[in-house]
Amino acid sequence: MNDVIHVEHLRKTYGRKVAVDDISFQVAEGEIFGLLGRNGAGKTTAVECLEGLRHPDSGRMRVLGLDPRTQAQELRQNIGAQLQESALPDRIKVWEALDLFSAFVSRGNDWRPMLEQWGLEEKRNSAFSSLSGGQRQRLLVALALVSNPRVVFLDEMTTGLDPAARRVAWELIRRIRDRGTTVVLVTHFMDEAEYLCDRVAVVDHGRIIALDSPQGLIASRAGKVRITFSTSAADLSWLESVPNVQRVVRRSTRVEVEGSGPVLALVATALVSHGILPSDLRAEQPSLEDVFLSLTGNAAGS
Ligand SMILES: Nc1ncnc2c1ncn2[C@@H]1O[C@H](COP(=O)(O)OP(=O)(O)OP(=O)(O)O)[C@@H](O)[C@H]1O
Ligand SMILES: [Mg+2]
Repeated sequence: MNDVIHVEHLRKTYGRKVAVDDISFQVAEGEIFGLLGRNGAGKTTAVECLEGLRHPDSGRMRVLGLDPRTQAQELRQNIGAQLQESALPDRIKVWEALDLFSAFVSRGNDWRPMLEQWGLEEKRNSAFSSLSGGQRQRLLVALALVSNPRVVFLDEMTTGLDPAARRVAWELIRRIRDRGTTVVLVTHFMDEAEYLCDRVAVVDHGRIIALDSPQGLIASRAGKVRITFSTSAADLSWLESVPNVQRVVRRSTRVEVEGSGPVLALVATALVSHGILPSDLRAEQPSLEDVFLSLTGNAAGS
């Protein structure tokens, strides 16, 4: 398969702040590639370098064989970008924005069906400033796609969308990929990454600390099981010595046990033998969110 994006040792600093330290990855044609990471990890900076909007300090980048540093003009004819923070003139109408953006490129889509696809039909003649947050967001995504790009960069595409609009957006992105467009998706939603992405890179402090399919990342923690239950029992110290138990966390009556293999059966047996019969005993396999949190840490802020 052809790599349409090739990044090697990308680095970008803002003064003394290292936003992107050392990032390398490739994206194959037709792939949906996710970038996950905590606030401030460097995702937007990396994507903006690839879009030719920011100049990295060092590293090598190719998008569709073009160097975003020196060939940004040509590149923009072939890529779509939904920026994390973009605004349009307040008074521009929805249809005017779509018409304008599709006119930028020769191979633009007919924007009219996009109004319905993105739930903007009713707002066709509304000014940008009068749209709700979610409507603005949908318009910005539609604008990124109206040029029928070969590669599209979506930075927090579904932030602010209601659950139904989010599902619609997912289906539309899948359809666009099925037509051959390569998608780079920055997201904080693990369900979105799991549903859409072929591969995801976890970015932390400007570096990629894991890169695999969502299933591959989850499998890297395979065998781990999380058990939860409630009890008012005062002493649970014996739980730590039950075979296969690795960690016990207690928050008032709520207990969380992490372990591996047949830990559920072992914990259940031990609970019964201590006269504890919780009615809410549950076991869960790790999710992508668990993997993400264990890779990047739980504490807020960075
Ligand atoms: N124009 C700028 N000037 C100075 N520092 C910046 C600038 N833009 C970003 N930064 C800093 O670079 C780091 C990476 O920012 P970036 O926007 O790339 O993060 P992000 O991973 O996209 O975060 P988020 O999930 O919050 O969108 C942050 O510490 C941020 O404060
Ligand atoms: Mg960002």
